[in-house]
Amino acid sequence: MLGAGTMGSGIAHVFAQYGWVTTLSDVSQPALDRALESVRRNLERQVKKGALTPEQRDATLERIHTAALPDAAADADLVVEAATEDRLTKFKIFQELDQAAPPGAILASNTSSISITAIAGQTRRAAQVIGMHFMNPVPVMQLVEVVRGLETSDQTTQRVLDIATALGKTPVAVRDAPGFVSNRVLLPMINEAIFCVMEGVASPEAVDTVMKLGMNHPLGPLALADLIGLDVCLAILQVLHRDLGDDKYRPAPLLAQMVAAGRLGRKSGRGFHVYRD
Ligand SMILES: NC(=O)c1ccc[n+]([C@@H]2O[C@H](COP(=O)([O-])OP(=O)(O)OC[C@H]3O[C@@H](n4cnc5c(N)ncnc54)[C@H](O)[C@@H]3O)[C@@H](O)[C@H]2O)c1
Repeated sequence: MLGAGTMGSGIAHVFAQYGWVTTLSDVSQPALDRALESVRRNLERQVKKGALTPEQRDATLERIHTAALPDAAADADLVVEAATEDRLTKFKIFQELDQAAPPGAILASNTSSISITAIAGQTRRAAQVIGMHFMNPVPVMQLVEVVRGLETSDQTTQRVLDIATALGKTPVAVRDAPGFVSNRVLLPMINEAIFCVMEGVASPEAVDTVMKLGMNHPLGPLALADLIGLDVCLAILQVLHRDLGDDKYRPAPLLAQMVAAGRLGRKSGRGFHVYRD
């Protein structure tokens, strides 16, 4: 597991819980410490809810190790990368992983928007490179979007679909295209909600209430944008706009302004809504 942030810690948690010996790796030691702490806390919560026994909690923790590259990938059957969403960072990581991992290993990326085909092109094993797009929070969310790059083999795809199923998830295979399916459908809705606020059609509270009570969404689009992070939303919309070349994906100017002002949603305490804790 490469990258021990929000997603990496959740993905390591799930793999270890389902019996995989998991090595967590990150360039930042504080991130690794925080990841282990977060897995411990979330396992504890599962024990309190009765979803896990104390023995299963301890066995899960024992299966999680930490190491740096290249050692971290030396014996891997599967590497899942969840490092910072930056093209060049991921390109460099996949060049390193191609050297460090055994020739038969599958290299998967949890990227939200970067082309799997382009990532695979950094390696000499494009047939074994695939997108394994988990949702946040990983231990709770059911979906894994399995993204086939242009060169991804049927065998790699089937293996990853089987692994995701064995982790208790429901995988859905899609082809590599900007935003895949999840973000291609979700982000234009969030963007339109922001245009409604910007144009004075309704307040953020009103927009979220319409979508919750009228469309049965558990969370309004603006509360969801705050949860994802407004900077992340802007970055994904920019990828959709640039790579699909269609102005229907143009990010709302209000979104860009809020990001510039540091209103990033939950993580900064304020986005379209205010968060006191
Ligand atoms: N947060 C979400 O809701 C979400 C959902 C689905 C997919 N994703 C994707 O998952 C990936 C990670 O997102 P996140 O929210 O966990 O980010 P994050 O910022 O919480 O974590 C990223 C981690 O990567 C580490 N890192 C950076 N460069 C590295 C390198 N060269 N080698 C090893 N580690 C490195 C950082 O130190 C950090 O700990 C991104 O590609 C993102 O698009 C995020």
